Amino acid sequence: MSSIEHVLEETRTFHPTADFVEHAHIQSREEYDEMYKHSINDPDGFWGDAAENFHWFKKWDTVLNKDAAPFYTWFEGGKTNLCYNCVDRHLTTWRKNKAALIWEGEPGDTRTLTYQELHRQVCKCANALKSLGVKMGDCVTLYMPMVPELAIAMLACARIGAPHSIIFGGFSANAIVDRVHDADSKFIITADGGYRRGSVVPLKATVDEALEKCPGVEKVLVLKRADNAVEMKEGRDIWWHDAVDAASADCPAEELDSEHPLFILYTSGSTGKPKGILHTTAGYMVGAALTSKYVFDLRDEDTYWCTADIGWVTGHSYIVYGILANGATSVMYEGAPNHPDPGRFWDIVEKYKVNVFYTAPTAIRAFAKWGDEHPKSRDLSSLRLLGTVGEPINPEAWMWYRDVIGGGRCPIVDTWWQTETGSILITTLPGAMATKPGSAGLPFFGIQPQIVSEEGEPEDGMHSGLLVIKEPWPSMLRTLYGDDERYKEVYFSKFAEQGWYLTGDGAFRDKDGYFMIIGRLDDVINVSGHRLGTMEIESALVSHELVVEAAVVGFPHEIKGQGICAFVSVPADITPTDDDMGVLRNHVAKEIGAIAKPDQIRFTEALPKTRSGKIMRRLLRDIAAGRETTGDTTTLEDFSVMAKLREENEA
Ligand code: WT7
Repeated sequence: MSSIEHVLEETRTFHPTADFVEHAHIQSREEYDEMYKHSINDPDGFWGDAAENFHWFKKWDTVLNKDAAPFYTWFEGGKTNLCYNCVDRHLTTWRKNKAALIWEGEPGDTRTLTYQELHRQVCKCANALKSLGVKMGDCVTLYMPMVPELAIAMLACARIGAPHSIIFGGFSANAIVDRVHDADSKFIITADGGYRRGSVVPLKATVDEALEKCPGVEKVLVLKRADNAVEMKEGRDIWWHDAVDAASADCPAEELDSEHPLFILYTSGSTGKPKGILHTTAGYMVGAALTSKYVFDLRDEDTYWCTADIGWVTGHSYIVYGILANGATSVMYEGAPNHPDPGRFWDIVEKYKVNVFYTAPTAIRAFAKWGDEHPKSRDLSSLRLLGTVGEPINPEAWMWYRDVIGGGRCPIVDTWWQTETGSILITTLPGAMATKPGSAGLPFFGIQPQIVSEEGEPEDGMHSGLLVIKEPWPSMLRTLYGDDERYKEVYFSKFAEQGWYLTGDGAFRDKDGYFMIIGRLDDVINVSGHRLGTMEIESALVSHELVVEAAVVGFPHEIKGQGICAFVSVPADITPTDDDMGVLRNHVAKEIGAIAKPDQIRFTEALPKTRSGKIMRRLLRDIAAGRETTGDTTTLEDFSVMAKLREENEA
């Protein structure tokens, strides 16, 4: 609860400059209030108006259908295509030759794709996919570096109605196996490799390893990016430059039902099995595009840069779909923020004259630590708006971002949302509201957040509690792929009677109605703005012969927000060594990906449990938070004594 005390003490508020307000889409709190009220009192009218701004092959009959709640549908009866709305629609306007994507590779190579060129590449890719046998409804798995072809492949999938499942390039072969099986995906698009911190990440080799366990995969399309040696399996693997270059550039966009599946994106839950978040076409399109316009205050002359990887939902919504749907210019960067030096991001801002910059608190903390000299030696005067996403931002990092990166003149939008929500739900609108360090802000149009108690009592006024969303919104997930029951269970069972969506986050609402997100309330750890399920890491650990039992908890981490601490019990006849720590850390990296590598491994003879056999995570969390130095000498005896004492206290 210390974060709540913090917000109570936080009295600083910052108003946008008159110059910013003058050019903003929404210029005052009154204007927001008016629009918000309309969106709540008449959601069908509000969202129907918003949807009018897109191309429809056939207009919808019903804006929102609640009949099968919580399986809501939006814009039922309509036919549209998100790729068409992101690309084709701009070709008959002056934007035809506007930059859609400005890309920079880590080694410094660059490419700019106009909307016209993007269209050409997307059509060719779509035809190549068809020639490989991809049909409408088939799931295509993408495991790629941050190169333009990733965006091209996504749009090509959307064009032909083949939902994509993007797997972050940092995930391991095993993660690919699980996701390919769960989505029953027969097609994969990958690359030989991608650049990261000066070396080549061998993506194709990881796919090969995964596919040993995925006999159902029929075709693998391979982009040549890093020129590292790869094996091509005859009959299965096809080079991108063979298939795509040869394909025709004429590929009409399919007329898809509003609820046609657009993508699956896997995210961690509190159980071991990743959840396949399913998003569909029209509602996601309207939500991602409208939030892009208002939250990032997009203007045609802007150069917009979101530093996320497209493997996360942030990249889906705010590098590709929401941004291109507005006809804006999106910058894409392949590599690490500190390669060749910690000023790389600021070089990019200076070089492309970036106006709107969207990144994560973990990155901001790292920049602050690397030293002010890096941003200060670059010209960042083009920036006019800054954003953050992924986890709560501590006020110190927020102030640093404002002063050092924003030069004190740029509003900061702290955007709260989730893979499940598809688009931003809580934020400030930069021209309309004051901001407060550490506070996300107010609900976006159509969003009805509510703080409630465990028992479901609404807590109005200044209060903390569980954050729920009372009414559906267009870009919400539709289900967990292949598991409707789990969808209902995870998001709608706790407050089934009321029909509220459970976010899994705790939040505090302040005297001005601003929401401050405190963090996850379930067994999910937020590492560097990405969710990891403790169960997932525990199962990975237990799969190693050295491990009898494992309990994983988060602890406060200076840069990553939360670090991962694993308490591991080993067979009685084994005395674990420091080397074993490394072995287990690498084992988790291999099972899930480097992002899930525990920061600390603590060996113990037994885990503290309640009499009923439940691991006492609360205690472990305390221990993990209290002793942050690695290699500390906490002995097993101390540990069990503490556990026993606590048990006795509670009894
Ligand atoms: C969880 C969702 C949405 C894209 C990135 C993460 C946390 C997200 C904020 C924020 C405080 C935040 C929440 C949420 N979170 N944004 N601005 N302030 N917390 O997507 O992996 O689906 O994780 O990230 O805990 O539930 P995700």
